[in-house]
Amino acid sequence: MSERRPRLEGKVAIVTGAGTRGDGVGNGKAAAMLFAREGAKIVLVDVELARAEETLAAIESESGIASAFQADVTSDEQCKALAEFAMTHYGRLDILDNNVGNSHRATVTEIDPADWDSIMELNVKSMMLTSRHAIPLMKKTGGGSIINIASIAGLRASKSTVYTTSKAAVIGLTKSMAGDHGREGIRINAISPGPVHTPMVAWRLSDEMRAHRKNTTALGTEGTPWDVGWAAVYLASDESRWVTGSVLTVDGGSSILSRHAYTDAEMNE
Ligand SMILES: NC(=O)c1ccc[n+]([C@@H]2O[C@H](COP(=O)([O-])OP(=O)(O)OC[C@H]3O[C@@H](n4cnc5c(N)ncnc54)[C@H](O)[C@@H]3O)[C@@H](O)[C@H]2O)c1
Repeated sequence: MSERRPRLEGKVAIVTGAGTRGDGVGNGKAAAMLFAREGAKIVLVDVELARAEETLAAIESESGIASAFQADVTSDEQCKALAEFAMTHYGRLDILDNNVGNSHRATVTEIDPADWDSIMELNVKSMMLTSRHAIPLMKKTGGGSIINIASIAGLRASKSTVYTTSKAAVIGLTKSMAGDHGREGIRINAISPGPVHTPMVAWRLSDEMRAHRKNTTALGTEGTPWDVGWAAVYLASDESRWVTGSVLTVDGGSSILSRHAYTDAEMNE
């Protein structure tokens, strides 16, 4: 039997939020590491350069090829510079993983409108900005794949109204862009992760809350950033050549269960 070819061989990828806040591995870092293991060259973008450099060191320790690039993806100018950097360094662009996103727990009566704007800008506008500079480059080589990290919070109510609103908007953005750019060979899909254990949430989870998150999945197990990363590898690769405008839910079955239908005890049975 012939040796398996890396699934992303010859491709160049941008991953936004490719660093991780705090210790551990986040969704962006996991996707970047898996892309590199599958043969892609990666531009690791982070507003905090040191965080992107940590991911770079992890990739280089496995003999992968990547570069760290500092940018705030809410800036149009910096997104333009990012696309130019990818072209100058690697000569093409095939994959854009829009991973940056954050939450802010509040109802509409509690939230400061300025906080609302900044979450919408970070979670939604940033994806439009990176995409608007990436798409013309992807067109040059006949196509590409854009992956937008949404959330199951975009499909149902959550404790953060602005997070739910922004992630629902990410899904709308994904479908609209997929319709607009399909004939250019560019596929645009979203991933909706469920309660994944990453540094983004770890700092505010007690052991009890962590166990509860696990118990709200159909599988009764905890998701990791690698689960989200493998979904991104599939959507980035030619294996998903006929998949666009879709939302891939990676949540251990959280979203198929009614939160009120099962008590923790029942879920543990
Ligand atoms: N952890 C979960 O349970 C969960 C569930 C569903 C969806 N998600 C989504 O996963 C994504 C986060 O993944 P992560 O684990 O990599 O997060 P993370 O918090 O580790 O953030 C990754 C990096 O993004 C960088 N960043 C923040 N603002 C930036 C900006 N303006 N420009 C450039 N970089 C910026 C940070 O410096 C950080 O290093 C988000 O979109 C989030 O909504 C997470």
